[in-house]
Amino acid sequence: MTATARPPRGSRAGSGRGTARTSNALRAGLRLEKVPDPCSVVIFGGTGDLSHRKILPALYNLTRAGLLPAEQTVVAFARRPYTDEAYRTEMAASVAEFSRVPVEQALWHDFANGIFYQAGDFTDQAAYAALGARLEALDAERGTRGNRLFYLAAHPSAYSDIITHLGRAGLARPGRGSWVRIIIEKPFGRDLAYARTLNREVTHVFDEGQVYRIDHYLGKETVRNLLVFRFGNGIFEPVWNRRYVDHVQITVAEDLGMEGRGQFYEEAGASRDILQNHLLQLTSLVAMEPPIAFEADALRDEKLRVLKAIDPEWDAERIRRDVVRGQYAAGWVGGVHVPSYRDEPEVAPTSTTETYVALKLEIQNWRWADVPFYVRTGKRLPKRATEISVQFKRPPLMLFRDATTEPEPNLLALRIQPDEGIMLRFAAKVPELGLDVRSVNMDFTYGSSFATEAPEAYETLLLDALMGDASLFTRADEVEAAWGIVTPLDQTWAAWDKRGDSGDLAPYEAGTWGPGAADRLLERDGRRWRRL
Ligand code: BG6
Repeated sequence: MTATARPPRGSRAGSGRGTARTSNALRAGLRLEKVPDPCSVVIFGGTGDLSHRKILPALYNLTRAGLLPAEQTVVAFARRPYTDEAYRTEMAASVAEFSRVPVEQALWHDFANGIFYQAGDFTDQAAYAALGARLEALDAERGTRGNRLFYLAAHPSAYSDIITHLGRAGLARPGRGSWVRIIIEKPFGRDLAYARTLNREVTHVFDEGQVYRIDHYLGKETVRNLLVFRFGNGIFEPVWNRRYVDHVQITVAEDLGMEGRGQFYEEAGASRDILQNHLLQLTSLVAMEPPIAFEADALRDEKLRVLKAIDPEWDAERIRRDVVRGQYAAGWVGGVHVPSYRDEPEVAPTSTTETYVALKLEIQNWRWADVPFYVRTGKRLPKRATEISVQFKRPPLMLFRDATTEPEPNLLALRIQPDEGIMLRFAAKVPELGLDVRSVNMDFTYGSSFATEAPEAYETLLLDALMGDASLFTRADEVEAAWGIVTPLDQTWAAWDKRGDSGDLAPYEAGTWGPGAADRLLERDGRRWRRL
């Protein structure tokens, strides 16, 4: 996993323009022994939304932080006929809009000189030959030494074609002394069968060690800190188990609606869009055993074990009992009246796509047996909030039963976003003559403890991929295990919808915390969702 880095010697980008993160690291005497080798980042779908909002701004920020070599090159590959210059101009506007730090003109100029555009159709083999020739020319011109990082940021329906054609064009195999890697954006497939096919296609052309399947939640600073919190401290791990933990809640709440992604979302729904990846990744990080080493395969082995221990036997009865799907109706979010999901552009007026899902997961292993993990995600909830909360058991003996206010059980809340931090709730005596016990919070916030600004998830992940560190990327078997959990739900819902039996799809008013059925899911067990 990439930590902090020292600007490469002779790097234009590194000449005195390091971010707070780099300069703090330098001041603290920290150095990264390795910096990425010069390479060409080839973005398939270079004109798409992800390139505009995330990939190019992340590459620019890494350059600004002095973390990339001066030879770093970007080649956007897409259908539209752009010139290099036109593409650079378009990207200048996007990076100015979406970059984490303001753009400096002189630096942008240097950075933009390393951006190129290659027009081509994803299905046209000749376009890949032309791409190969262009990359070779750039190797000579810019010193990228045959190193390539392919980035699949196109529509997922194009993945198979791109991978096959890269293989046929001989672009997947590195030359002597160089490397070739491929980043694949989510969604990785749409069900278990498709994910298996895609994995087969990918590994037919690339070795698994070349493949970086992205889940941007793993690049979030607070998610990475979860590993440090658990395994870099001595006091939490001993209580991190069924003996002390009552249950765990994981919430990925969004206030946004479709934002022009109706067509995509109709196909995905909350289960494929968030549950299969972000929520299950967070679950496996919370529940995993300590890895034997802090390196990619050791981490991924442990995450995989958690996913395998989640009971995938979802029959219809259990789905009705332990899973809630919902869809937002019109309502008010942040003082604005918003339409129902079915009234969003590109959404069918009779759509049964779920915009909310909540479920009770059981991790059947020695550590977690009988400790439910309640996970939920939804669009158009009252606010954007991602949080993991670990709720502990009550003390064995209630000595302070007569205290006027009964304290709530201990709780540890890991706030992933926004207002990043960690909170521990415990009981305290009210400072008065009597004996009144109340819950108080001990709170750590990133903002007040660290003066530095956290990098964006895409910066972290791109730098890791450039360094050849796959710790924060998902492996083929992990992705399949996650689909193994989600696909039975999707298939059962699809079967119910087909026979007109969608009664379980609970509407909820936009701006509320989801359907009442999700509250009942916990109430049935004598618990309730934490108010965020
Ligand atoms: C993406 C989903 O993976 O994650 C989006 O496709 C969602 O629907 C987004 O809005 C949330 O990411 P973040 O980083 O804003 O929490």
